[in-house]
Amino acid sequence: MSNPVSICVIGSGYVGLVAAVCFAEMGHKVTCVDNDESRVKMLCAGGVPIFEAHLPELLNKHRGHGVDFTSDLRMAVEQSEAIFIAVGTPQGDTGAADLSYVEAVVSEIARAITGYKVIVEKSTVPVYTNEWIRRVLQRYGVDHELFDVVSNPEFLREGTAVIDFLHPDRIVVGAGSERPARLMERIYEPLTNGSYYAQAGALTGICNTESPAKLVLTSAQSAEIIKHASNAFLALKISFINAVANLAETVDADVEDIAEGIGLDSRIGSKFLQAGLGYGGSCFPKDVAAFHWVAQQQGLDFQLLQEVKKINDAQKDVFFNKVRSALWTLRGKKLAALGLAFKRDTDDIRDSPALDVIRRLIEAGASITAYDPAAMDRAKAVLPPSEKMKYAQGIYEAALDADAVLILTDWKEFAQLDLAQLNRAVRFPIVIDGRNLYKPNQMAEQGFTYVSIGRPATYNAQQGKPRKLVL
Ligand code: NAD
Ligand code: UGA
Repeated sequence: MSNPVSICVIGSGYVGLVAAVCFAEMGHKVTCVDNDESRVKMLCAGGVPIFEAHLPELLNKHRGHGVDFTSDLRMAVEQSEAIFIAVGTPQGDTGAADLSYVEAVVSEIARAITGYKVIVEKSTVPVYTNEWIRRVLQRYGVDHELFDVVSNPEFLREGTAVIDFLHPDRIVVGAGSERPARLMERIYEPLTNGSYYAQAGALTGICNTESPAKLVLTSAQSAEIIKHASNAFLALKISFINAVANLAETVDADVEDIAEGIGLDSRIGSKFLQAGLGYGGSCFPKDVAAFHWVAQQQGLDFQLLQEVKKINDAQKDVFFNKVRSALWTLRGKKLAALGLAFKRDTDDIRDSPALDVIRRLIEAGASITAYDPAAMDRAKAVLPPSEKMKYAQGIYEAALDADAVLILTDWKEFAQLDLAQLNRAVRFPIVIDGRNLYKPNQMAEQGFTYVSIGRPATYNAQQGKPRKLVL
């Protein structure tokens, strides 16, 4: 690369680590800092702390050349032109984002600044955080000539994070002046001028040399709001289709057909209209709450966001009631749980609807045997193995003698089950699918009673359709 930038990324989590290796892949010189010494040790030793496609190969390619790992923030800041803050911003008690990790990092940066730096908010933060970062730096006595603060929110999804980063729908930069804006343009130039996509071995995705990534330059406040508004809007789409799914069920309609029918309208779009257990993960729940809080601080009651959350919370009750209706009583029932992660292709279990449902079923007296291709270790840390919570090594082992199989995460392998083998393994052929991975008729043909979201249930021939029973 002709014009590489020396970059420091603070935080080596899902966002920081991906950003660090992708900047290295784009040709920059990156130092990634984390205060979790064991994580840094693992990264230096060749380990990969999270399950994310393409991350192992990019780490292999750039570790020790394009990207280094350290817990020495001062050294990393001193040698970098741009400092990306990518630490967590979890939900606080009031719904507001807890910015204490960001503040701690900013105070450390303040002590390390000796020359001009561009400080970049990559973490998802409420509007005016940019201004607060500036104030904190000045409180610590850093001359205002020595830094600029810009907002550069991240839109990657877990599971497709590397490709999302290198092939973004858009890059948003909120900068108040020319100097930091030009540096940010330089950093993203390989994506915006398409040179990265022309490289041999470049990862492929939606961008290419003819249609490179687009950079949107705005004020810092607009960039901060773009991030919150994007997540809130996507969450709203999910809650909308879940509310429609509940209506569809009452009139024997099929939410999958409805989603296709509305999604084909190009003004609506087909993405994020998958009905299911509701959204989870480390972002939508906390960002919807934080955005609501931001509006409240400005004297506005953004009630729509409360409704989005309400529908999402209720979706787990909807699923729980389906399990109860299908099995009558739950005490003593043995259930196979397919999926623990909050969605497919990740080991992340933060705010996973699968875990919420499992906890409720255990409380109601059921016992669970769970399987997940990537998230079992993380799940064991919060739901330790016990009499009521067992972990299996594979799908059919989990299903052995089960009174019902629950599909809780949309992993591809759960959509490609060997239904004959599953039928042989279970005690009763009942599948309750929180992700709509199968067609109801197909499941009935294979001898299953099949209950899903927003679609009529189908019943195996022996059991037949039950009369509506009141629990
Ligand atoms: P994470 O919890 O996976 O990682 C945060 C990392 O920061 C941890 O490794 C932690 O040890 C480190 N850290 C905390 N304090 C530190 C300090 N003082 N010095 C050095 N390191 C420190 O978080 P994440 O999922 O990567 O999210 C980070 C931010 O990005 C959040 O604001 C989140 O909302 C946002 N975001 C996340 C995603 C996603 O898909 N996970 C996508 C877009 C934006
Ligand atoms: C989401 C956004 O998609 C990213 O753009 C954003 O950067 C990120 O949050 C963030 O700010 O952290 P992520 O949480 O990784 O990414 O995962 P998504 O694919 O958005 O899924 C979120 C949740 O919604 C999952 O539980 C998923 O199962 C659920 N979902 C998604 C549905 O129930 N239906 C859908 O149609 C889509």
